[in-house]
Amino acid sequence: MPVQSNAPATPQNPAQLRQLLKESKSANPAEWESARKLVHRSRLAHTLDRLMERIQQSPLPRTLQEGLVAGLGTTPASAEGIDPVRLKELTGLPPTKAIRALCVYFALVQEKAPSSFGPAPHNVEAFVQQNPSPYDLLLQVEKPSLLDLGAGDLSFEEELLKHYLPSFQQSGKTLTLHAVDRLQPGSQLGGAYHADPERLRRFAQYPPDNFRFRFGGGVDMMDLSAQPHLLAHYTMVTCHAPATPTFAYEPTRLSPTTIRSHLIETKGEYRTVRVHEEEALEVMHRGQCLTFPAWKFVIQGPLALLNLAARRGALCVLAAIDDEVFWEILAQLVEDPGMRPTDVVFTPDVLPEIFGHVHQTLAALDVGARCSLADLTALRRTIPAESSSGKRKPPTFRFRFVEIRRGAVFPGIPAGFTARQFRQMSEEVPPWHLVLVPEQVPAR
Ligand SMILES: C[S@@+](CC[C@H](N)C(=O)[O-])C[C@H]1O[C@@H](n2cnc3c(N)ncnc32)[C@H](O)[C@@H]1O
Repeated sequence: MPVQSNAPATPQNPAQLRQLLKESKSANPAEWESARKLVHRSRLAHTLDRLMERIQQSPLPRTLQEGLVAGLGTTPASAEGIDPVRLKELTGLPPTKAIRALCVYFALVQEKAPSSFGPAPHNVEAFVQQNPSPYDLLLQVEKPSLLDLGAGDLSFEEELLKHYLPSFQQSGKTLTLHAVDRLQPGSQLGGAYHADPERLRRFAQYPPDNFRFRFGGGVDMMDLSAQPHLLAHYTMVTCHAPATPTFAYEPTRLSPTTIRSHLIETKGEYRTVRVHEEEALEVMHRGQCLTFPAWKFVIQGPLALLNLAARRGALCVLAAIDDEVFWEILAQLVEDPGMRPTDVVFTPDVLPEIFGHVHQTLAALDVGARCSLADLTALRRTIPAESSSGKRKPPTFRFRFVEIRRGAVFPGIPAGFTARQFRQMSEEVPPWHLVLVPEQVPAR
């Protein structure tokens, strides 16, 4: 079973690209064979479209991206638009083989067209409304898969397996479990959140017929383009204890100056230093000098996380969300723009006024209780997509169902390391848990 901890190499020039295409072709003979179907006349235009999109989102140098896209043709894509000379120059292969090799390299072969993917949103919604554990959805689908973002020490993965692997062994199904974390393996920074090597070893011993696992360390979830092994869509996408302050402030709502001064006020003065040859962030917190990974205070915000989860998952779970991150996420889920005031940090004292009756109801939820957000206020009709530099406008998503639960750990539901720590944190208010069913908003 492959356990990966580093991103595959990114080719910097045509010679390296040719070499990597060759290697991925011989390492994946079944996919090379299946890629035949993708170049069939009936599917070629669609394949070229997807390939061009994938290339434009990839970390390849711009000259290589532009060369490949030009070689694959014009928009709308067609067999006639292909430039065989250009493709040969870059890939060393004639057109059909070049396209097949690119499909294997960019992992288009395992991908299904979005329309044919997995359970339909209304079925997912019905399922989660009727079942206490959203994870039971994994038992309902033919090819269960889960992507865990910011996976930390992988204790959630272990709990998930304890809970579900026997069922997969019984049914003969295979769970594909992928996990990523930004912590660089081997780094001195990040402490308990590093992927536990013992767990990685144990996972490697589980039956490969029922469990396919990959872990990507040193991977920023917002840049998954260099992870061609990842699926385009998963049955579930999870993020347990979304990092703070990374997701605690929405940059489209709060200015960099406001975020910075709030961070200084609440966390302390901070600066970049070097620790054991590594770049690190040093924070002076209440007279203590703390060090974190250099990117700790890089703010990505809830919109980026929601967009990522909605695009990749049929069902999304954000668990053990701390109070600050929760209200910032919630503001992006509701239609009412009054709950997204410009440049106002969501400190506890302003929440009742900004969120009104929504705050009143949610603050009164008992630990273990759940409610549907749509019963309290209208859900946002579209989740704004991040701006894209490519020519194509990315599809827009919304959440057709949002369930809010109060608490860190729920009976019969696998939880992560941080969720299990809340019991000991007497100063923390109980965290929040979101179950989200995304759907694509039809283009107008
Ligand atoms: C609070 S910890 C939670 C870890 C684990 N999910 C849990 O529940 O215990 C947040 C994790 O997110 C990771 N992280 C933060 N920003 C990330 C990013 N942009 N991409 C991937 N992982 C990230 C951190 O390294 C850390 O392991």
